[in-house]
Formats: sequence, structure tokens, C-alpha cells
Amino acid sequence: MTMGVAATDVVGSLPQTVAIVVRDATNTFAVAGIDTARLDAQVLLGFVLGTGREVIFGYPERVLTQAERSKFALLVVRRAARQPISQLVGQKEFWGRSFAVTEDVLTPRPDSETLIAAVLDQLGEKCRHQKLEILDVGTGTGCLLLTLLAECPLARGTGVDISAAALEVAKSNARELALDKRIEFIEGHWCASLPAESAFDVVVSNPPYISEQEWRGLSPEVVRYEPRAALVGGADGLEAYRLLAPQIPRVLAPQGFLVIEVGVGQARGVARILAAKGLEVQAFCPDLAGVERVIVASHRDKIGNLKK
Ligand SMILES: C[S@@+](CC[C@H](N)C(=O)[O-])C[C@H]1O[C@@H](n2cnc3c(N)ncnc32)[C@H](O)[C@@H]1O
Repeated sequence: MTMGVAATDVVGSLPQTVAIVVRDATNTFAVAGIDTARLDAQVLLGFVLGTGREVIFGYPERVLTQAERSKFALLVVRRAARQPISQLVGQKEFWGRSFAVTEDVLTPRPDSETLIAAVLDQLGEKCRHQKLEILDVGTGTGCLLLTLLAECPLARGTGVDISAAALEVAKSNARELALDKRIEFIEGHWCASLPAESAFDVVVSNPPYISEQEWRGLSPEVVRYEPRAALVGGADGLEAYRLLAPQIPRVLAPQGFLVIEVGVGQARGVARILAAKGLEVQAFCPDLAGVERVIVASHRDKIGNLKK
């Protein structure tokens, strides 16, 4: 057991009510340095009881069964060791849908919903009525590609990832959302494994963009439990953009567009990297915090063709 908390410390012999186990878990999490200690205790107990967090407020006196206590105690130990809630409950909401999450994939982030909004804004009515080919490079859980396929009923998708384990998670999410018939997954290094005749209408990517130094300062939840290869983009965080930029023009249809996520303060630097490879920036899209989070770009000689 990590961080000095054992499941046997959490499961005592006295009858344990909802109120007591939430209080004890809250204290355990606070000692472990978790800012959201009480919320996390409630979420995990709601998960164990199968009721959701809200329902447990109404039943503070409910006594947990032995099985519930044991299951909750194990989750408390793992959370106290700073494993993310998403991995403990095995899922995360993204754009209103639930995606399975494991230690093999990056947990979908709310910031990445900016990318979905940007794609849907560029497509307008085409989203519902046009056959589209969508490519997601570095697909992870598949949250970006699967969301776009769900929103664009005539679209087909290709998801690439270098991690076979991540692709298994993405495939499972595709089946769960009944989108597996419209999607192909390819294990490969960025666009290298895509056929020469590729011509995608929409290319999306949320590549690893954290610098080595930044990564070392991230929370234990990220550093200990999320895949490093999904997060770190070399010494300055821009390595994946340098590798991707020369490959995108080859796979992008003449009238197609790229929507790519960037880290804080990276937008202008990434725009220069894209421009050097013949991609013209059409827009910088801010996330809810006002950070330039997403870049929309197209072939330089096709400026003005977006939304036609
Ligand atoms: C930041 S995560 C994004 C995951 C998902 N698209 C999302 O937005 O939540 C980056 C993804 O790129 C993948 N990746 C890293 N290097 C790669 C490479 N050379 N070729 C293809 N995929 C790569 C990682 O395995 C990871 O799944």
C-alpha cells in the first residue's frame, strides 16, 4: 500500500454509516494533500453505492454492507495514493458522453472541448448533411473522434495512436457508443501509417505538449498515473508539432482543415511551425479561461475556402 494508508485501517469493525465513512475518507484525503477531499469521498462512495454523489446526502444514516465497505476502503487507499478519480470510477464525461478511462490513456480534459466546438463551428450545417472523412492523430480514449462522429452522423473516422493499449480503450469506447462501424483505428507513428491517397476533410489532434520541466511540476495524479507519452512533448513541449506539421498537408484534403490543440502560451509558436509547412492559420480559439487553446488551419493556397 502506498502513502501509509491500508484498506484495513479504513475498514473498522463497528457499523459504518454513510456519514461516518465520508467523514473518515475526507480526513484521509486531506492528510494526503488532496484539495477536493470531501467531494472525492462523496463521489467515490456514490460510485460504490451505485447511486451517484447526490443521493448519498439524503441517507447519512444508511449502514454500508461489508462488501460496500471493503470496496470503498480499497478505493480510498488508491485515491489517497493520488490515483485520479476518473481511473478509479473508470470513466470521464466529455461533451455529454461517458468515455472509459484506464491508466493507458489520458483522461479527457474539459479544455479539449474547445477543439470540438471549433470543428463544429467550422463545419456548420455540413456537420449534419455531408459525408466527411475525419482523422484524429493521437486518439487516446477516442474522445475527440468519437464525439465528432456522434455529432456528424454521415462522417467516417480514422484514429491513430502509437499506443496499442490506448487503442484498445478507444475501440471499447467506439463499441459502447455504437460508432464502431464508422471508425478505423491504426497503430502507428503520427501520420506515417496512413495510405498515400489519404484526403481527410477534417484533421484533429491533441498531441503531447507539456515540456519536460513542466511535467515534473505537475500533480501526483498526472505524474504517477497518466501515461507520460501522452503528455510530454520533448524538452520544450513542441516536438510533436514539429513532427506533425510536415505530415499534415499530405493527408489533408484540398478544402480540408486542421484543428489542433496547444498548451498555454504555445499558440503563436505552433502557428509558425504550421506556417513553415504550408498551413495557414484561420483562427485561434480560446478555452473557457481565455487561453488560446486551439488553432484552426488549412492549406495556404485554400484560404477562404472554409465554410463554403
Ligand atoms: C494528449 S493525448 C490526447 C488523447 C486524446 N486525443 C484526448 O484529446 O484526450 C496524446 C495522444 O497521442 C499519442 N501519441 C504520442 N506519441 C504519438 C506518436 N508518435 N504517434 C501517434 N500517437 C502518439 C499518445 O499515446 C496519446 O494517446
